[in-house]
Amino acid sequence: MKYHLETIHEKGLTQQKRNQLIQWFNDEFDYIPLKWAEPDWYVLALNGSDLIGRLGIVDREISVADKQIRVGGISGVVTKKELRKKGIGKIMMTEVVKVIKDKANTPFGLLLCRKEVFGFYDKLGWKVNDFPTTFEQPQGKMVPPNLTMTYSCKGTLFPNGPLDLNGLPW
Ligand SMILES: CC(C)(COP(=O)(O)OP(=O)(O)OC[C@H]1O[C@@H](n2cnc3c(N)ncnc32)[C@H](O)[C@@H]1OP(=O)(O)O)[C@@H](O)C(=O)NCCC(=O)NCCS
Repeated sequence: MKYHLETIHEKGLTQQKRNQLIQWFNDEFDYIPLKWAEPDWYVLALNGSDLIGRLGIVDREISVADKQIRVGGISGVVTKKELRKKGIGKIMMTEVVKVIKDKANTPFGLLLCRKEVFGFYDKLGWKVNDFPTTFEQPQGKMVPPNLTMTYSCKGTLFPNGPLDLNGLPW
């Protein structure tokens, strides 16, 4: 099947496309009782004009111990159900590393994931970060039950220390 990738800033989305992206996110992750950050960028996989995959990027300055660093936070990676295990997720994740590095000019990627999908990101070179991560929710600071994984886009080592996402998670 032929498809192409499109990187789009959230300001460039039509209302219809924005609703579709939110719907895809909610269909997969609504069962998780968290309030999420809105992405700044999206990488979309499209067959013609049909959406077959999506992911979001949250551009955020986070705290790692006493350092402030900018990360591209990977949000809601979803491939259309009937088209999974055909390489679309991998292509989107390869593209997002370029977008984080070049368009967002950010040295690191960071994502939170369930243990069930660890293998998908591990194969793509993402590393588990064992330091505690905290983020904000309306009721206060929270520690996620999931894994934190990072990616170095420019070859620099991710700093050691506890992470604070300084806002809502993604
Ligand atoms: C996770 C998801 C995005 C993967 O997308 P995909 O298009 O099926 O992935 P790909 O076909 O590109 O897979 C790339 C590689 O990862 C492997 N892989 C895919 N899903 C995996 C999983 N859940 N666990 C371990 N490995 C996985 C594939 O077998 C493939 O391996 P290979 O390169 O050795 O052949 C997709 O299953 C999905 O949309 N899941 C529901 C939403 C979700 O859970 N997203 C992740 C949130 S953290």
